[in-house]
Amino acid sequence: MALRNIIYIEDPLLRKQSRKVEKFDAKLHKLLDDMAETMKEANGVGLAAPQVAVLRQVVVMDCGTGLIEMINPEILSTEGEQTGPEGCLSVPGRRGEVTRPMKVRVRFQDRYGEWQEMECEELLARCVMHETDHLKGRLYVDIMNQEIFDDDIDGEDDEEDAEE
Ligand code: NI
Repeated sequence: MALRNIIYIEDPLLRKQSRKVEKFDAKLHKLLDDMAETMKEANGVGLAAPQVAVLRQVVVMDCGTGLIEMINPEILSTEGEQTGPEGCLSVPGRRGEVTRPMKVRVRFQDRYGEWQEMECEELLARCVMHETDHLKGRLYVDIMNQEIFDDDIDGEDDEEDAEE
């Protein structure tokens, strides 16, 4: 495994649509392994391939329940609403208040190309929406309600460090 360089908000690659993965080969597995290591090193809860300059529909996440890999993810349905702080490893030093669905049903392929479905809630639902946005060239700053500044201390630190 190797660390990959994370690219930042100014980089036009982050604004491009990622292409579907067609080959579930050793190169994909290396990308997934490198992305998981890069996310962990950066203390992130999610990372999308375009953030490491690879325009493919590949996402890794770990919202505290273990590593989840999603390839070619498709949102099937969403339910409810949650509003909370969000950050992004490609937007360092900033956070914003973002409204997302409370529940998300997502279909995706695993690293072997097998289709899976998952029902996600709360932080994981937020993370899935954030990462699938990356695959479409969208960043949370495009849809945030407002920027959160460091002096907005409200005593709720749980989610505030969640960088995706
Ligand atoms: Ni992000």
